Amino acid sequence: MTELALPPARTAPLTSPAHVRAAVEAEVAARWPDDATGLDAIHRYALKAPSKLLRPLLLCHSALALGADLHQVLPAAVGFECAHTGSLLHDDILDNDALRRGRPAVHTRYGPEQAIVAGNALFFALFNGLAECGDRGISDRQIGDAMAVQARAGMEVCRGASSELTLDGAFDSDIASYMAMARRKTAVMLAAACEVGAILAGAAPDERKKLAAFGEHLGLAFQIRDDLLPYDDDTGRSGKPGDSDLRNRRPTLPILLALSLADDADHQALKRLLTDETPPAAQRELGILLRRTGALTQACATADSHASTARDALAGLPPSPHVKALSALTR
Ligand code: IPE
Ligand code: IPE
Ligand code: MG
Repeated sequence: MTELALPPARTAPLTSPAHVRAAVEAEVAARWPDDATGLDAIHRYALKAPSKLLRPLLLCHSALALGADLHQVLPAAVGFECAHTGSLLHDDILDNDALRRGRPAVHTRYGPEQAIVAGNALFFALFNGLAECGDRGISDRQIGDAMAVQARAGMEVCRGASSELTLDGAFDSDIASYMAMARRKTAVMLAAACEVGAILAGAAPDERKKLAAFGEHLGLAFQIRDDLLPYDDDTGRSGKPGDSDLRNRRPTLPILLALSLADDADHQALKRLLTDETPPAAQRELGILLRRTGALTQACATADSHASTARDALAGLPPSPHVKALSALTR
């Protein structure tokens, strides 16, 4: 992350999600300009690809919901996008996926060595972003508290990624193990983005807790929905390979549910698809089985239930467009 010659001009209070998104995008563009070279050019390539910007939006709306100033928290929001993108650079190497955000993955374009180094630097950018919030007037105490939350979250993400690797091919594992892995791999970081937003806004402990719980349940819903993408009729939209989970023999929630719901014949068919060398037609056949056993419906319902718990966690926060924006992110 390069130092800006001048901080971006302070803007009038921003309220709409579109404004928040534009502010995050502008902050990224200012830090990684068109003429970036070396490592910064790799970061620009990774960060300028179309992302949903979920983590920075969570951080900003959580902070703004509690009266924070967008300008003060933006560097931390960008930092979360950096750390998330760094984890994707590494994830695409682990998963051997050549496509990300609709373009060649960083390791495809620059090689795995550069992708590993670039990912590492993006994790540090998370802390650099938080330090910059201090330069913009957030107190040392708040920075310290936020630092502790995001450092712990980062370690949990690595535990989740590690346990996912242990679960590869373990189609007899239970749903609780899957949920524990998904919580660590994905939900903890979404919870941290919300909690850091709350801390930077000077939230009371109760507000911090509500926002962290919101992020955690949203994260569980989000990971389950991500696992369902390969079985979506509109697979091409995700910008990443639809066969990744099957190729990597991941016991995702819909597959675990199908194995528990299937009759004998479908159970046999599932086992064959999951243990075979996964021919290209397997993905389609698997989709048919997941639909027939009711696993897709049940996985969707589980995701919806976590999304609903997330919305419930927002109750009691002062009503505002930002709480509405958070709630809308669960849909
Ligand atoms: C992908 O995250 C990784 C998961 C946790 C499922 P996103 O779906 O938020 O990816 P981008 O940032 O929008 O590309
Ligand atoms: C998400 O893993 C990666 C992290 C949370 C670090 P996945 O492998 O499930 O995500 P996609 O599908 O590649 O985006
Ligand atoms: Mg992946």
